[in-house]
Amino acid sequence: EKGGYDHFMLKEIYEQPRAILDTYRGRLLADQGLIRMAGIDQNLEKFINANRIIIVACGTSWHAGLVAEYIFEDLARIPVEVEYASEFRYRNPVITDKDVLIAISQSGETADTLAAIKMAKEKGAFVFGVCNVVGSSIARETHAGAYTHAGPEIGVASTKAFTTQITVLSLIALKLAKEKGAMSESKFHEYLTELEGIPSKVEKTLESNKLIEEIAEVYKDSTNCLYLGRGYNFPVALEGALKLKEISYIHAEGYPAAEMKHGPIALIDEEMPVVVIATKKGHYEKVVSNIQEIKSRSGKIIAIVTEGDKSVKEIADHVIEVPETSEPMTPLLTTIPLQLLSYHIALMRGCNVDQPRNLAKSVTVE
Ligand code: F6R
Repeated sequence: EKGGYDHFMLKEIYEQPRAILDTYRGRLLADQGLIRMAGIDQNLEKFINANRIIIVACGTSWHAGLVAEYIFEDLARIPVEVEYASEFRYRNPVITDKDVLIAISQSGETADTLAAIKMAKEKGAFVFGVCNVVGSSIARETHAGAYTHAGPEIGVASTKAFTTQITVLSLIALKLAKEKGAMSESKFHEYLTELEGIPSKVEKTLESNKLIEEIAEVYKDSTNCLYLGRGYNFPVALEGALKLKEISYIHAEGYPAAEMKHGPIALIDEEMPVVVIATKKGHYEKVVSNIQEIKSRSGKIIAIVTEGDKSVKEIADHVIEVPETSEPMTPLLTTIPLQLLSYHIALMRGCNVDQPRNLAKSVTVE
C-alpha cells in the first residue's frame, strides 16, 4: 500500500509530479490557450464582480491560501485577505454579498473551516471550496468548488495536498486574470506553458533527495531552526517550518526574510541552522544580503537556489538547486526540498513520520 516506500509521507512527496498533473488535467488546455473549470465557469460573474476574495483555512491549507493571495493580487489584480478559519469565525468580520469566500481544506472536514463557511453563507457571501476529499462536508456545504486531484493523503503531514491546492488556485487566478483582462494573451499563454512544465521540474527537484539526506544528517540534533523567504516564498518558509516542527519536534519558525532584523536575528549563533529560499527573481539581491547578515553572525545557511546560482553558493553552507520557473510558480518547486528535509530529519530522530504525536489527519473539533 506504500508502493515500495518506507512511509506514506515519502510516497506522497514522490507522487507530486503525478498529483499536480492530475490536478490540472482536463482543466489546463495549453494548446487551446484555455483554462476550463466548471465551478468557475458557472460562477464567473460572482468572481469578476467580487469586491474581494477572502480565503479561510487552517494549517498547511492556510499556507496555500497565502501563496494564493500573492498569485491573485499579482496576476488577477483582485484584493485578497487570508484568514485562519478559527479567528475569522469568532471576530465578527465584515462580510457582504459582494464578497467571495474561498475555503481550502484537504480533508474537507476541518471544524473551524466548516463553521467559517456557514457564517459567510449566512451573511450572503458566495462560497467556493477547494477540497481534496470528494463528497466531504466542506465540499457539500459550499456553493461551488474545484477538487484537487491529489488522491488519498494518508501521512498526517500534508505534502501533495499543499502543492495541488496551489495548482488549483493558480488555475483559478490565471483564468480570472484572463477574463478580467488583467493579463495579456501572450503572458497568459506563457503561464499555461510554464504550469504544464511543473511536474517534470518537480521530478527534477526530487533528484536532490540524497543531498538533502546528507544535510539532514548534519542538522538532525538541532534544537531550533529558522526558515526565511520573501514574496511568493514567504509562505513556503512558514510551511517548511511547520513540516519540521510537526514531524521532528524541533522548534522551527518561518519568517519573512526582511523581518529578521526586527527581532529573530538575536537568535542567530553557530548552533542555528537557517533555511533560506533564495531563488532568482523575487527579491534575490535582497535575500542575498539577508544571508550575509546571518553568516556574519555565524549562522548556518541551507539555501534553496535556482539551478546555476553563483552568489549564494559562495556564502551558504549548503545549497539545494531547483529548476528555473516563473516567479508565481516557484513555491511548487521550493516546497519539495523542505518536505524532504523534514522527512529525513524526523526519520533520523526516530520519530513516527506518518503519525506524529498529538496530531490527527482531520481536525473535526475546534
Ligand atoms: C499540516 C497539517 C495540518 C492541516 C490542517 C488543515 O501538515 O496537516 O496543519 O493542514 O489541519 O487541514 P485540512 O486541509 O484538512 O482542512
